[in-house]
Amino acid sequence: MRKKIVAGNWKMNLLDEEVINYVVDFNSKKGEIESEVEIIIFPASLYLDTMISMPDWDIKIGAQNCSQHKSGAFTGEISAEMLRDFDYDCENLHYCLVGHSERRAYFNETNTILAQKVDRLLECELKPIYCCGEELEQRKSESHFEVVKSQIIEGLFHLDEKQILNLVIAYEPVWAIGTGETATSKQAQEMHQFIRETLKEKYNEEVANSISILYGGSCKPSNAKELFSQPDIDGGLIGGASLEVDSFIQIINSI
Ligand code: 13P
Repeated sequence: MRKKIVAGNWKMNLLDEEVINYVVDFNSKKGEIESEVEIIIFPASLYLDTMISMPDWDIKIGAQNCSQHKSGAFTGEISAEMLRDFDYDCENLHYCLVGHSERRAYFNETNTILAQKVDRLLECELKPIYCCGEELEQRKSESHFEVVKSQIIEGLFHLDEKQILNLVIAYEPVWAIGTGETATSKQAQEMHQFIRETLKEKYNEEVANSISILYGGSCKPSNAKELFSQPDIDGGLIGGASLEVDSFIQIINSI
């Protein structure tokens, strides 16, 4: 059985007081959560501490990014080791996003850099959520499968079988992120199945069937159920709709 996950990527949103209000509101509505699902929230790194310091907060948290370097003169960066050190027993912080399309596009993160980030996280026993996805032009020119395949091969296929089992993949078509335009459940399923086939070709069926693959891109309460009902979609990575407790809980309950 693959793990079902619904994760909220807050990106560069919510200030300290808003984080506190969110946690209080979320905690008061926890009883409404019906699904057996792992919930993760990715706040801005500066507020990781605010979240885990809140009473009764038992939801997993993750970082949105880490450096590909171990340590040294890299002003402004946070290392995987620092993330591990922040919550050494991994009671709350288990995950880190790697290769979100915004990082790829605005910070020039290549598959080679992302492969290094994956390595740094695994060395620290943190779980990468490795994001992949094609741009609109690439889908229009029907190169989307090829693009995603090379993101997976170049970012992940240096890992051995044991290592790859410690990560999660998120398929986020760039044209669906923050645009209101969602991939149809058919388009999403097709790509998730393709990613699983790609994993099977490199590793084996057991490995391919064990890795959770999440969908991200304008996922909201109105379309989450349909997306999550697809056989190869194991949950979602939610942007805008995770910033509001009620819609996030509705999405969580769609699994
Ligand atoms: P939206 O849900 O706002 O489209 O963002 C998706 C995303 O980028 C999650 O990482």
